[in-house]
Amino acid sequence: MTEQREDHVMKAALRFSRQDVIGRIDPRIYGSFLEHLGRAIYGGIYEPDHPTADDMGFRGDVLALVRRLGIPLVRYPGGNFVSGYCWEDGVGPRSERPRRLDLAWSSIEPNLIGIGEFQEWAKRAGAEVMMAVNLGTRGVEEARDLVEYCNFPGGTKYSDMRRRNGYEAPFGIKYWCLGNEMDGPWQIGHKTAEEYGRLAAETGKVMKWVDPGIELIACGSSNSGMPTFGAWERTVLEHTYDVADYISLHSYYGNRSGDTEEYLACSKDMDRFIETVVGICDEVKAEKQSDKTMALSFDEWNVWFHSNEQDKRQEKWTVAPPLLEDVYNFEDALVVGCLLITLLRHADRVKIACLAQLVNVIAPIMTENGGRAWAQTIFYPFLHASLFGRGLSLRTGVECPCYDAGQYGKTPCLEAIAVCSEDGRELCILAVNRAPEAATLTYGAEGFADPELTEHIVLRSDDLKAVNTADDPERVRPERLSPDAGLLLPPRSWNVLRFRCG
Ligand code: AHR
Repeated sequence: MTEQREDHVMKAALRFSRQDVIGRIDPRIYGSFLEHLGRAIYGGIYEPDHPTADDMGFRGDVLALVRRLGIPLVRYPGGNFVSGYCWEDGVGPRSERPRRLDLAWSSIEPNLIGIGEFQEWAKRAGAEVMMAVNLGTRGVEEARDLVEYCNFPGGTKYSDMRRRNGYEAPFGIKYWCLGNEMDGPWQIGHKTAEEYGRLAAETGKVMKWVDPGIELIACGSSNSGMPTFGAWERTVLEHTYDVADYISLHSYYGNRSGDTEEYLACSKDMDRFIETVVGICDEVKAEKQSDKTMALSFDEWNVWFHSNEQDKRQEKWTVAPPLLEDVYNFEDALVVGCLLITLLRHADRVKIACLAQLVNVIAPIMTENGGRAWAQTIFYPFLHASLFGRGLSLRTGVECPCYDAGQYGKTPCLEAIAVCSEDGRELCILAVNRAPEAATLTYGAEGFADPELTEHIVLRSDDLKAVNTADDPERVRPERLSPDAGLLLPPRSWNVLRFRCG
């Protein structure tokens, strides 16, 4: 499978049934993430001097792009940043807020945006905040105080502090991450599974005493390649099973060896990662004879590798340096499509997922300081999945040729999933054709009355390395193929096939 061969057409067939449902797709799998890192916050969402800035200094052009994505929740404020963060630095009068060393990213944090402003930004973006607490340098006390500040109505030290700061109504933040990547030696306050498990359990217990309505995400491994992967999950879950509602997974991919065939198959790694974590969760459930089934929060996933070298040369200790500014190409968009399909295939257990991140930092949206904002290539598969990948996820059998994808082994040329509305009247197939040749698609859709193709959206390019830039922001953009042309998936393409059923 090397060069593009439009003349040759392969055959692919899908089989699914309305009765064979994997799970209800939780809209929160279309979450994202904004960290105090690089130009994500300053120059990304917040730039008071920008021509589109609103009354709070939030960029209107960025908000418009974010709203298009239909993101229901956004993780904040980190990431590695949170493990050294004092949330108190980001509240109260701006003139009194300290500038601080951010040791996670060797930057200066001006604290112009804190939880109050961010909560307001999220509201304007149509999303809810998923907040992380610092379990690197801090612990039970600060987490307790932060929940009180955010969620307690009033009449206590921290709830009244919030009200004095101009936020009369509680924020009502429901989802809380118990730290971030605590298994990683790069983390400020890195811990063993035993140390973290105990701290997370005690912190979570006390947070829920302040607000019993919150849900908690315990840290799983930073990625499936960690030497402690598996053992970490087991130990952490043994401590936190009763108090936590989710365990986190993180994974980033990249075409480091320049091997497109192999790269396009990396969603197989995500698939295996999810299945392994599900297995461990269920093992701990059985050991504990618990009635509760642990949900998964895949709260960092994306492609991340383009900016690695450039970041090593970045000057330290500046405010909002251009860090992790991956410029995504067309093949990255295909990978993001495959990863989205993989998440949908695990709709029964993956209840939250966050594309990491949202603006400028490994992001679907890029900005120039003071200038333009545009959509990167990966914006589009995420947009389409968020718009059309809702409802029920269906077990989808795929018959098609396979190819040898290096470390990922024998891999189907087609990655696909069918989803449908609860009433079965709308059906949608999301599919990535990994092959350099077109595919004719047939399908067996049991239980659907006369599906009629109403729309075929495609993202394709002759150049796998094509990118969108400020000067050429639409080099890679979706197009509509005529539904009358039949089910033909172009070589190496992302496809959305929408059907109306009788
Ligand atoms: O998203 C960038 C970084 O990746 C996050 O700060 C960290 O949690 C992960 O390692």
